[in-house]
Amino acid sequence: MIKFTDIVKAFVVGICRSKVSLIGAIMTTVIFPVLLVSAILDLQGVVDNPYFGFVIYMVLGPLFVIGLVMVFLGLFFFKGKEEVGLFTFEYLKGQLSGPVGFARIRKFIFLATALTLMNIFIVSLVSYTGYHYTESVGFCGQFCHTVMEPEFTTYKNSPHSRVHCVECHIGPGAQWFVKSKMSGSRQLFAVAFNTYSRPIETPVHGLRPARETCEQCHRPELFHGENLYIKDKFLPDEKNTHVQTVLLMKVGSGGYRGSEAHGIHWHVAPENKITYRHTDRGRENIVEISLTRPDGTQVVFHKEGMQKTVADADAAGSHEEGVRVMDCVDCHNRPTHIYLSPNEALDQKLAQGEIPVSLPFIKKNGLRLITQDYPSHEEAKNKIATELRAWYRNTYPDLVNNNMALLDKAIAGVQNAYVENVFPEMRIVWNFYKSFLGHRDDSGCFRCHDDSHSTSAGETISADCETCHIILAEEEEAPEVLRSLRGLN
Ligand code: HEC
Ligand code: HEC
Ligand code: HEC
Ligand code: HEC
Ligand code: HEC
Repeated sequence: MIKFTDIVKAFVVGICRSKVSLIGAIMTTVIFPVLLVSAILDLQGVVDNPYFGFVIYMVLGPLFVIGLVMVFLGLFFFKGKEEVGLFTFEYLKGQLSGPVGFARIRKFIFLATALTLMNIFIVSLVSYTGYHYTESVGFCGQFCHTVMEPEFTTYKNSPHSRVHCVECHIGPGAQWFVKSKMSGSRQLFAVAFNTYSRPIETPVHGLRPARETCEQCHRPELFHGENLYIKDKFLPDEKNTHVQTVLLMKVGSGGYRGSEAHGIHWHVAPENKITYRHTDRGRENIVEISLTRPDGTQVVFHKEGMQKTVADADAAGSHEEGVRVMDCVDCHNRPTHIYLSPNEALDQKLAQGEIPVSLPFIKKNGLRLITQDYPSHEEAKNKIATELRAWYRNTYPDLVNNNMALLDKAIAGVQNAYVENVFPEMRIVWNFYKSFLGHRDDSGCFRCHDDSHSTSAGETISADCETCHIILAEEEEAPEVLRSLRGLN
């Protein structure tokens, strides 16, 4: 009778006869317990470090699988080529017909099945936790720390800080999953070989059409009517005077259950299709817009003087690259990576109390300091701190000597206004990533709504200020309209 230990011994001897198998077996045996323990720890959320995941899933996991393949290859192809030849039908029949051979083979099968099951178990477990790791905010935002720092920082400070990166960048479905993993591997190489662009290019040309991602959570057809938008600002005077701009924003709707599409979200009504043609990568210079109305009629707007250029491009067949169907991201291009202007950054900190409004001239001084060039965040913070301390000691000695905490708080707030929006390592300067939501520097909505895109019949896309909003107050102290809404008049 053959003992089970003999089978194991035969198996081990088999492996030892091939160097390839032996190395493979040592690799798998050593890695197995490490993978098991790490995957369990990860499942329980004990470790929260993107590099831990990298070592487990991108290094040890693949090594384990390579080890298994080596055991297999070594056993069957490298050493025992002639032995594989032994496994003929006749040989197996002979073995199985005798009781000894049968017991031997049965035990072999048992051993092989047990080992295979164990391996399938660990490989599935690690694939499952590894999949979640590559979809995690930690991997996307923190693993390539310097490269993704700007995106991660702006994301953390945005309304979407609890939405995972992959929900906007990948979304559901197998096709985009595969695309994203391929593009992700390319990006890992770009980081490893230091070939990525600084700053990262925008717009993201391979971004999934936003309607398939944003509309997982938002339904613009259900918005309706107008919303009140209040912007808090502070003037660069001694009192940092607080002023407000109040707009009645015609947020509108994509139309739902018989209600008509109207206002700003009219563009995304299912029955309106807008495509546009641009000549630059940044989608700033829009030369042609075509709108298909619900009744199927099409109107085409051309930028003044560009009709011939566009027709020439058509004739040469060279326009396809720059044609795009308008979707959410053509306005909401910064839903989460929101970079503010120097003014906005300081206004936000002042409005939230992170910078004390009571410190004279802090808006003016802050603005002067954060708009200078610095080689790194560290230098910027040092310079901001020393300059502010020196200025206030000179100009308002009593105020700061009696209340150092006030100045310290202001310094921290001004430093944050800088480090949250400017990233010298990635060469991101103020206003590099522009928002299209609105009309800063005649960009955004005014790329089309500028009265200079017209149809052959002379129709234009309206630039009338009341198309999109009604301005109720502009940079006013305690605006009348807010006082009456609050019942103060
Ligand atoms: C709410 C949706 C959303 C979330 C969540 C999100 N992004 Fe983005 N991301 C976008 C959009 C939209 C763009 C810009 C697309 C464009 O203009 O083409 C973008 C652009 C980028 C870019 C290109 C640079 C730029 O700013 O244009 C990078 C890199 C990026 N995202 C990484 C991340 C990372 C890392 C995370 C998670 C920490 C993340 N994103 C989370 C929507 C999102
Ligand atoms: C997984 C769900 C999810 C996805 C996907 C998502 N969002 Fe959001 N979005 C939210 C939540 C939740 C909020 C509200 C956050 C709050 O009120 O603090 C929000 C808020 C917003 C706001 C209002 C921001 C503000 O200043 O109050 C806008 C605009 C927006 N999202 C646009 C987008 C766009 C554009 C996309 C696609 C690129 C998108 N969202 C994708 C969940 C999502
Ligand atoms: C033509 C430009 C444009 C398009 C296209 C557009 N939006 Fe908006 N959206 C706006 C503007 C402008 C606002 C209001 C101003 C602001 O939030 O600062 C807004 C507001 C919102 C809000 C906040 C609503 C609120 O009541 O405060 C959400 C959420 C939103 N949009 C989601 C979307 C989604 C999802 C899509 C795509 C299906 C989309 N938008 C397409 C311009 C647009
Ligand atoms: C790619 C070009 C394009 C951009 C960018 C664009 N629009 Fe439009 N918009 C149009 C076209 C085309 C029309 C329809 C004009 C017509 O019907 O004559 C329109 C119509 C509108 C209308 C009127 C809708 C109605 O009720 O009929 C509003 C409001 C509007 N846009 C707001 C905005 C806002 C706000 C932005 C920026 C956040 C913006 N648009 C950006 C092309 C654009
Ligand atoms: C096509 C739509 C559209 C048209 C036309 C338009 N605006 Fe706006 N405007 C917007 C949007 C959207 C915002 C909000 C931007 C934001 O959320 O930051 C805005 C914001 C503003 C603000 C506040 C800016 C700030 O940050 O304080 C002012 C002031 C303003 N618009 C003035 C005008 C004037 C004046 C006109 C006419 C010459 C005009 N707008 C035409 C869409 C439009």
